[in-house]
Amino acid sequence: MSKTLPKLKQHPLQQGFTWIAEPIKYMETAVKDYPDLFLANVVGEGGPIVFVHHPEGVQKILTGDGFIATGKSHLLRPILGNNSILGLEGDRHVKRRKLLLPPFHGERMKAYGQLICDLTRQIFEQFTPNQVFTARTACQDISMQVILEAVYGLNDRSQKLRQLVSEIAEIFQSPLNVSLLFIEWLQKDLGPWSPWGRFLRQREAVDSAIYKEIEVRKANPDVSREDILSLLISAKDEAGNSLTLPELRDELMALTFAGHETTAISMSWALYWIHHLPEVKRKLLAEIATLGKSPDPVEIAKLPYLNAVCKEALRIYPVGMLTLPRVVQKKTEVLGYELEPGQLVAGCIYLLHQREDIYPDAKLFKPERFLKRQFSPYEFIPFGGGQRACVGQALAQFEMKLAIATILTNYDLALADNKPELPKRGGARLAPARGVQMVFNGKRNKSGLLKNSTLEQLVA
Ligand code: HEM
Repeated sequence: MSKTLPKLKQHPLQQGFTWIAEPIKYMETAVKDYPDLFLANVVGEGGPIVFVHHPEGVQKILTGDGFIATGKSHLLRPILGNNSILGLEGDRHVKRRKLLLPPFHGERMKAYGQLICDLTRQIFEQFTPNQVFTARTACQDISMQVILEAVYGLNDRSQKLRQLVSEIAEIFQSPLNVSLLFIEWLQKDLGPWSPWGRFLRQREAVDSAIYKEIEVRKANPDVSREDILSLLISAKDEAGNSLTLPELRDELMALTFAGHETTAISMSWALYWIHHLPEVKRKLLAEIATLGKSPDPVEIAKLPYLNAVCKEALRIYPVGMLTLPRVVQKKTEVLGYELEPGQLVAGCIYLLHQREDIYPDAKLFKPERFLKRQFSPYEFIPFGGGQRACVGQALAQFEMKLAIATILTNYDLALADNKPELPKRGGARLAPARGVQMVFNGKRNKSGLLKNSTLEQLVA
């Protein structure tokens, strides 16, 4: 006989408040009573939603045929609109994924390798000795430029877009403004100085820059262009129809938004851990040195310890706390609990990644765990999985590795103070509360890098 779904006891208002203001506290309190799943009654997620954090349950909801990936309850809808991949369902969603996946994989993605290394150098060359900087901002400069190159092909107009998109992202850094995304009735235009009014005006400016770009491209078709906007403009469905203007606009916004903040936050967490734990930095430098003076980006991306450090950074504080929601289609059982049709469910990435039975000493940063063991795609899910798995995961990991290797080999950095960096909600994401404050000590003397370390020495 199946069991009744466990519910959190607190009033929905209290749950909603804690989930918005202190999501880690919310999840860690709940998991004490409900180690595998629970029904959360929180605003902004589209209704009561089951958080699942047991690998078997996660596999079932992400890949089982009784679940569909809904596009309905997406928190960022006011920014991204209704017509991007994130808002689509069923057949339309499958077709859009088919269109978007190739440019983020294989040869096309490798073409961004040199660009990532060059951009990273460009940004770090601007720092002067003893300058204190925020790692998240520096990483955001890198990831924004990379996504603009991939999506639009860099040009002067996309630089203007960069500014405008950053300003929108900035609005939702404050917890007060984040609550506007969660609570629809607060979304009122009370003039240009009110947070929502400011957002609407900013959105209008972004929209008009995007529409202008589309207009210019349509008027000057160029078959040699390989950016995603060109691909989307030329795409046709079986009936020969092209994407409409709102569809193009929403897709460009979705990729720009989904693609830059997530990667930047993950990179800044990695930089934090590397500089917080001298042994990790030492091992990384030794491994990178094995590639010689001017390593090929593809070779950098294959380094096992670098890969393990990036994975551990994505595990310990995943940028996305939840996968996108799925909806139960027919009465079904998950981990012995019966779920009714219409019930929303999501993989709770944070709690899954904190399970002691999968990750012993889960609160500690230990990259070696990824060298010693292969985790299943339902034990390690920073990019979700199944029908809605992250489209940009290969690019994001490639970018993290190349940027980190470039930074470490060329520049000597340190954390600006000894205060621990803690995770805090920033928009829909979990981000370092202080953005990781660092000091630029100067350029690194390459001959000082450690050489000749074996993988066994690195794991030890
Ligand atoms: C470290 C960086 C990133 C992280 C941690 C991340 C995480 C995620 C997660 C958790 C999901 C939901 C998956 C699910 O529900 O199963 C997702 C979806 C998505 N991500 Fe990422 N992402 C990252 C980078 C990127 C980049 C660089 C792009 C764009 C190029 C991107 C584009 C998308 C899109 C379009 C979706 C929706 C897919 C769909 O609806 O089918 N992401 N991502």
